[in-house]
Amino acid sequence: MPDALGVGIIGLHMGAGQLRQIANVPGLKITAICDLEEALIKHIQKEFDIPFATTNYEELCRREDVDIVSVATPDYVHLEMAEAAFANMKHVMMEKPLARTVDECQKMIDAQRAAGTKLMTAHVARFYGTFQKIKSWTQDGTLGEVYNLYTSYIHNYENIPGFNEWRFDPELRHQLIGGGCHAIDLARWIGGEVEEVSCYSNHFNIPVLQTDDHFNINLKFQSGAVGIVVGSFGCAHPYNIDMHVWGTNGSVIATNTWDEAKLCLRSIDRNKWLDMPVLREGKGLASEFQVLANAIRNDSEIESDGVSGARTVAIGWAAIESSREGRPVQPKLDF
Ligand SMILES: NC(=O)c1ccc[n+]([C@@H]2O[C@H](COP(=O)([O-])OP(=O)(O)OC[C@H]3O[C@@H](n4cnc5c(N)ncnc54)[C@H](O)[C@@H]3O)[C@@H](O)[C@H]2O)c1
Repeated sequence: MPDALGVGIIGLHMGAGQLRQIANVPGLKITAICDLEEALIKHIQKEFDIPFATTNYEELCRREDVDIVSVATPDYVHLEMAEAAFANMKHVMMEKPLARTVDECQKMIDAQRAAGTKLMTAHVARFYGTFQKIKSWTQDGTLGEVYNLYTSYIHNYENIPGFNEWRFDPELRHQLIGGGCHAIDLARWIGGEVEEVSCYSNHFNIPVLQTDDHFNINLKFQSGAVGIVVGSFGCAHPYNIDMHVWGTNGSVIATNTWDEAKLCLRSIDRNKWLDMPVLREGKGLASEFQVLANAIRNDSEIESDGVSGARTVAIGWAAIESSREGRPVQPKLDF
């Protein structure tokens, strides 16, 4: 095992964010970058003194000095890039969503299993300080047994890159999968696996979008807990990701844009919120890469692995099917 694991990043919009956070992380070395935009490649190669740059992702995947391929390109090329990386026995950091469809997720996991390398789904919201704190309260008994939760991903898509392009063509990306996966994944992370989904959705805000732009999803967890996930993409509402968790000992409400989480504990006063300071987002992208690097070095399991990312995608599609057909749907779990 080399002292520093070589990282090759494909896709230098989101990938540039990764690069900025991991450039100085010990144990990682960015050895190669790839994008279709020549000017962007040149600029980033110079700024970060990166040995190799290309517009051909297959070339990056073949390099000896690349141990981890980070795929930070649009969702519709995730599978082909993962397959190229696994064909060259590389580990993969895959931007969320793992892939566009349940079928693509299965193909990616099959390719990973054949290679015997690691696959991590980059669900960065799990690494936000606020949500890490809430997760720890579900694990150390503070909240007791979780019986209800609410998560949301609220993001107006009218002004983002890809407007009316790949982000608006449901064949290339369905926004409940591409964006809503943040909230679905947080719900799974807190509540565990989901056995049934029912969903209502509507379309009031972005006429050019070919699908609904607001989704209310009801989740029934294997644990007996229930939950609601909201994905909203055309709303007059600031961008945020919310998490409310209700447990037998207490409840918490928080969003990624607040500096505190509001905690209510039965043992203190069940009618009062306590303002608990939290760290907000922190350096989530660097934390993700540290998790993957540790798993490679110790050959250990990754919590947000390929199967986990695939189950999140499966819940999104179960919700879309439920809304279209007007009935509850069981998401695929066995990847
Ligand atoms: N974790 C987060 O919060 C977060 C935020 C934004 C985007 N993302 C994810 O990151 C991925 C990329 O999103 P984005 O916002 O950067 O998209 P974008 O459209 O802004 O940029 C995509 C980049 O990929 C490059 N690219 C496309 N096809 C390529 C190919 N065949 N070979 C090499 N490069 C190619 C493009 O030239 C472009 O520079 C998506 O999967 C998205 O869901 C995650």
